[in-house]
Amino acid sequence: MKILMAGDTHMDLEHLQYLVDVASVEADSRLFVLGDFGYWEHVPAGILFLDKLDGYAGSKGVTVYFLDGNHDKMSMILERYAEDADDEGFLRVRERIYYAPRGHRWTWDGSSFIALGGAYSVDKRQRLRWEHTLGAPAGSSWFPEEEMSDEDMDRILANGNLVTVILAHDKPRDSEPGWNRKDLDACLPNQERLQRAIEVLRPCHFFHGHLHHRYTEHMEFRATDSRILDVRVHGLDCNPDPRALDLFDRQLQSWVIYDTVSRAVVMGGPKDLASDSNDPDWTPYVDSRAGRYAKPMEAELAIAIAREYVDEMEYNDDTAHDYCHHRRVIIALLEEIRRLRLLIDS
Ligand SMILES: [Fe+2]
Repeated sequence: MKILMAGDTHMDLEHLQYLVDVASVEADSRLFVLGDFGYWEHVPAGILFLDKLDGYAGSKGVTVYFLDGNHDKMSMILERYAEDADDEGFLRVRERIYYAPRGHRWTWDGSSFIALGGAYSVDKRQRLRWEHTLGAPAGSSWFPEEEMSDEDMDRILANGNLVTVILAHDKPRDSEPGWNRKDLDACLPNQERLQRAIEVLRPCHFFHGHLHHRYTEHMEFRATDSRILDVRVHGLDCNPDPRALDLFDRQLQSWVIYDTVSRAVVMGGPKDLASDSNDPDWTPYVDSRAGRYAKPMEAELAIAIAREYVDEMEYNDDTAHDYCHHRRVIIALLEEIRRLRLLIDS
C-alpha cells in the first residue's frame, strides 16, 4: 500500500485538495499529514475547513489521516472524538478524516507505525499576545498541550516493541536538516524525547514536518542495547505561499510516497535535493511522474501572471519600444508554455 506523507498543511484547503488529488492517483488513496494540519474546530473557519476537506476527500475516495502539531488544538480532538475510534484505533473526526493520537500504533501491510505528535511553538509569545490583545479565551491560538511531557513519552516507550516507521511532527534531536529556525533551547526537550523514541523503537524511517524544510538524512544512532544502527529521517516542507515564485518546487517538496510493502520511499521530489542531504550514498528516488503534478499547474499560473502583466503594461510614445519588446517576449513565452503543456498533457 502506498501512503502519501505530507508536511504541515496549516488549514490550507487548496493545498490539501492538491494533496488529495495526488493521493488519489499515486498513493492508494491515503494521505497522512504530519501535524499542523489545521485542526481549529473551536472557530467557525476551522469547522468549515474540516467539512469542505471531508467533502472533497470523499469525492475523490481518499482518506485523510493526521497527527497533531503544535498548532492543532489537540485537547479538543480528544474531548470530541476520543470515544469514536475506528477498527485501527484512529479517531474519526469526519467521515474521511482521522486523527492518530500520541503513541498510537498500527500496522499497514509489512510496516508498523507509531504516531508521536506535538512540538514547541517558537511563536508562543506572539500567540499569547494575540489572545490577550483580542480578548480571546486562553487556548484560542496557543495550546498548552502542544508538546508531550517526559512522562507521556515514558508511558509510550514502556511498550518497547520495535516499529518500522515513526511519524512525528517535530524532528529528533540528532537530525541535521541543514536549515532550521526552530533550534531554540526551548525546542530541544521535545526533540530529545523523539530521539529517545528512535533509540528504543529503532525505526527504518522517521517522517516529520514542523521545520517547513525538505531533507532526507541517513542518521546513525545508538540503540538502547548500545548497537549503532541507522534511520532515514525525512523532513517535509509545508503548504507553500500560493504567491511564491517557486510555488511548484515547494509543492513537490511537501510530500513523498511511502510503500508499506517494500518499506521504502518510492516517489518524491525534486531531484536537486540530493545536494541538501547529509547522506553521501543518498540516491534520489524521484519518479518522473512526480513532475506531472507540477507542470500543468505551473503553466496555469505562468499564463495568469503573464496576462496580468500584459494588461498592466502601459503604452505611450516614451515606452513604445520597451512595450513592444516585452510584449513580444511575453507572448512568445506564453506560446512556449502552451506547447509544453500540450506535450505534458499528451
Ligand atoms: Fe509546527
